[in-house]
Amino acid sequence: MNTPPCDMLVLGGTGDLSLHKLLPALYHLHREGRLPGDMRIHTAALDSLSRDAYLALAERNCRAQVARSEFDNDTWQGFAARIDYFSMDLSQSADFNRLGKWLGDGCQRGRVYYLATAPDLFEPIAEHLHNAGLAGPHTRIVLEKPIGHSLESAREINRSIGRVFEESQVFRIDHYLGKETVQNLMALRFANALFEPVWRAGHIDHVQITVSETLGVENRGAYYDHTGAMRDMLQNHLLQLLCLVAMEAPVHFDAESVRNEKVKILQALKPISGLDVQDKTVRGQYSAGHIGGQEVPAYYFEKNVDNDSDTETFVAVQAEIDNWRWAGVPFYLRTGKRMARKCSEIVIQFKPVPHRLFDGSQANRLLIRLQPEERISLQLMGKSPGKGMRLTPMELDLNLAQVFPQKRRWDAYERLLLDVIEGDSTLFMRRDEVEAAWAWVDPILSGWDSYYPNSRPYPAGSNGPEQAQSLLELAGREWHD
Ligand code: BG6
Repeated sequence: MNTPPCDMLVLGGTGDLSLHKLLPALYHLHREGRLPGDMRIHTAALDSLSRDAYLALAERNCRAQVARSEFDNDTWQGFAARIDYFSMDLSQSADFNRLGKWLGDGCQRGRVYYLATAPDLFEPIAEHLHNAGLAGPHTRIVLEKPIGHSLESAREINRSIGRVFEESQVFRIDHYLGKETVQNLMALRFANALFEPVWRAGHIDHVQITVSETLGVENRGAYYDHTGAMRDMLQNHLLQLLCLVAMEAPVHFDAESVRNEKVKILQALKPISGLDVQDKTVRGQYSAGHIGGQEVPAYYFEKNVDNDSDTETFVAVQAEIDNWRWAGVPFYLRTGKRMARKCSEIVIQFKPVPHRLFDGSQANRLLIRLQPEERISLQLMGKSPGKGMRLTPMELDLNLAQVFPQKRRWDAYERLLLDVIEGDSTLFMRRDEVEAAWAWVDPILSGWDSYYPNSRPYPAGSNGPEQAQSLLELAGREWHD
């Protein structure tokens, strides 16, 4: 395998992201021989831990995340030999000088800095890396979403990072872009002539993008309560999915061509501002309810959440793209926590036939499911067996786990970490994309402040507030639940 030599330094190495996602993903890559042979994985965080104590913590978490059949002691020992740990305060410049000495080589080798930290540390860390002489041309920096909490703050972060790193060195991660079916969406659209002629306003009635979770905020209350569903999910994951559905075919499948097309879609989103937020958006917050037979508390009783918090845990938006291909086609976006089921899917609802020969029909839709199962299914109307023309919905169903039963399903982070190591930024957000997404989201957030001050309650375990149903019903449509 020809991956160029490169080390990784995970800043925030004791946090949930590192322990639950990054290390297990790196373990899998190591196990499959995908990491450069001599790659070191340095981790750093405030906790004062010995290397052995850190390895014990890492092993415990990897064992919990990796399937039993894929975890064995020899592989773990080989992987653990790559890892070391440095205790430091990420906000202190002097600690980066210590870090530099500890790393030793003055960063002549390629090195990836993964900032698995709170976003307010992005700017100081970049500056400290620079001052300590650790941000050379062979380095890359990975930033987790959300980048900022508004257009202004995102610009400020991008400017500060840009003072230290070239744009080609910056990898803004959105793990939804690393999901298998999301990539399949591009294959489906751009490798099959079948869909292109109908992939437009003349044939598509509307598009639905849903990311619903059954989980609440778990132990992330402090972060979530000043973030909310709009900034945590819609500004990034859902808008990225929308881009992939709506973008024109790129000239090449490379980072610049793909991202050029995505940013055009974000810039073409019709603004929603002022009073429009009342008709085009729904914000909700879960109240107490039941999930899988278990009683769960209301959001404002979650740990580290304000008792009178009005943060939205659900958001639905009717978006429109003002361009030739999509004029007049609503894109309904919806995401929420503590919903009835965990499901991420995109529904392309085609228009009905122009002249109805048969009673009652609908289907006519393409369903792209990202999770829990990876599935692409074309839902059609067909004839029910027997006498008479009784129509019934049928499916051409492509369940990817069944099509490739022998292939292990890669986690999004595995794919994306390997891309960073290989320097491929096709699946990462460019600076102008992030800013264009905020430029569309900001007016909705300020519209909420003035015209939509209270989140609508919805019981945990439901499909969100009633108002989200009305958003479609008023136009004679319904959510695909
Ligand atoms: C993260 C959000 O980006 O995505 C979380 O911060 C959310 O709030 C998670 O739970 C959902 O990711 P996935 O891959 O489980 O759908």
